[in-house]
Amino acid sequence: MSAVPELRILISQEQIAQKVAEIARQITRDFQGHKLMFVGVLKGAAIFLSDLARQVELDASFDFIGVSSYGNRPTPTQELISGWDSTGEVRLTKDVDQSMRDQNVILVEDILDTGLTMSYLKKILFAHQPRVLKSAVLLDKPSRRKQPIEADYVGFKIPDEFVVGYGLDYAERYRNLPNICVVPRD
Ligand code: IMP
Ligand code: MG
Repeated sequence: MSAVPELRILISQEQIAQKVAEIARQITRDFQGHKLMFVGVLKGAAIFLSDLARQVELDASFDFIGVSSYGNRPTPTQELISGWDSTGEVRLTKDVDQSMRDQNVILVEDILDTGLTMSYLKKILFAHQPRVLKSAVLLDKPSRRKQPIEADYVGFKIPDEFVVGYGLDYAERYRNLPNICVVPRD
């Protein structure tokens, strides 16, 4: 097993824990007296969802939805830097398991980047006619937006850097890093 390389920490696990607790308190207040359904976007949101949900003091259930972005077939060089750019088209790879009709749904995503994924998912989830549909993202890169969309609960706004850890990956690696780290550009 090769060791995990040293990557620059952008947001520490302590900062993440504090922010997640803050968002959980806010959600607990906002939905007092109601049931909740968390819908996590695989796979990046799995860690954020599990930490967040355990601190929300409400009757909550989980579901998960899967998407992948696809576009033109990447050239070998684009393949090397895959993850640097979302290609535009979003495809559903795993549907939710339960009906969301009349439910209070919180869509949980790791990062809001161009906004294409979140716009696509909100459209899909609205079709289920939830009572309320809100979104929670741990990270937000506002400078990259292509769709005019904002999340209701945002952990950290970050600059245009490619980040990994706490669920986020680079070619499926680094999801298990406890801190959020920056992947150097070369
Ligand atoms: P969007 O559709 O461009 O908003 O992209 C959202 C998805 O792109 C996220 O769910 C991530 O899977 C991925 N993504 C965007 N930026 C990063 C990043 O900095 N690190 C890891 N994944 C990212
Ligand atoms: Mg993702």
